[in-house]
Amino acid sequence: MTVSDAHPRSASPLTEPLVLGIETSCDETGVGIVRGSTLLANEVASSVDEHARFGGVVPEVASRAHLEAMLPTVERACRTAGVHLADVDALSVTSGPGLVGALLVGVAAAKALALGLDKPLYGVNHLAAHVAVDTLEHGPLPQPAVALLVSGGHSSVLMVDDLSHQVRPLGVTIDDAAGEAFDKVARVLGLPFPGGPEIDRLSDEGDARAIAFPRGLTSGRDMQLHRYDFSFSGLKTAVARWVAQHETDGRAVPRADVAASFQEAVADVLSRKAVLACTEQGVDTLLLGGGVAANSRLRAMTEQRCEDAGIALRVPRPGLCTDNGAMVAALGSLLVADGVDPSGGDLGAVSSLPVDVVSVG
Ligand code: KG4
Ligand code: ZN
Repeated sequence: MTVSDAHPRSASPLTEPLVLGIETSCDETGVGIVRGSTLLANEVASSVDEHARFGGVVPEVASRAHLEAMLPTVERACRTAGVHLADVDALSVTSGPGLVGALLVGVAAAKALALGLDKPLYGVNHLAAHVAVDTLEHGPLPQPAVALLVSGGHSSVLMVDDLSHQVRPLGVTIDDAAGEAFDKVARVLGLPFPGGPEIDRLSDEGDARAIAFPRGLTSGRDMQLHRYDFSFSGLKTAVARWVAQHETDGRAVPRADVAASFQEAVADVLSRKAVLACTEQGVDTLLLGGGVAANSRLRAMTEQRCEDAGIALRVPRPGLCTDNGAMVAALGSLLVADGVDPSGGDLGAVSSLPVDVVSVG
């Protein structure tokens, strides 16, 4: 499956650097091209269909798909942007975190291109890139800002002091990622992978107050030890048990009510803790990103809570929230503009790259 998601704004001056970014941390081969903060191309080849029958991303399948998709996606991005590879001033690539075999394909391709073109290469952090992408749509990010990043692979609350230099983790999931919980609950309800969009749709027909599912890490003691952390594993188990009990009793499972009540629990905890982080840290900008940011209930609840608390909410459009190359190019462009040193020739794939390493030296 390939997706093109460039909505070029008015052309920026040719004097701004042209940056090509490559993303391969999970199942999307993304190549983005920006000039300054203007998006010129955002081509994505996803292998999600190949993983569907396994109910989750299979690392080896993802790596092979990246290999096959890499060159055609680079070529398509150049065509969409109306540029030649030789015009590129700098390259950036996701160095981590992510699946190591998948990351390796992107890092190897970026290093080969940088070497062949004799241009600087920036190895960047995937999470910081999720934040940076918003600058392409909504302009410079007021800093400090708090970012809530929720996808199939990560669920983090970040303090963004200075996007080119300093990002700090405030909270993280201690077990499943939010998207992973959506996918697993969808499987329990007999819905296809990826389950998030399916649960979102089914919830429209259900009653979100029908079942009181648990809100992980929100009790008094947990709020002391894990103030901005998340846990979705207990919720997932509670849903599975509730459904199993109904089936054992021979009662029909009200799937829409289960979906809506589960979705409500996830959206409640995510939005509550993200807004709490903003108010307690004295930050008045919240950025919501990652695939789960497409969830209609999470967006609505976060919007309402931000409005009540006087916080400005920034949410990139869905095509920029899910993994893509434009986010990597956007961060690369910020690093170039801020005079950050490019990576050395020994740049590698770092599957557990800490979130506070914005770019790899
Ligand atoms: O950012 P992303 O494309 O890739 C990862 O880095 O994981 O996020 C994919 C995740 C999947 O778990 C998918 O089920 C979830 O995002 N997702 C959603 C929605 N759309 C995608 N979850 C809830 N509601 C949605 N509308
Ligand atoms: Zn991601």
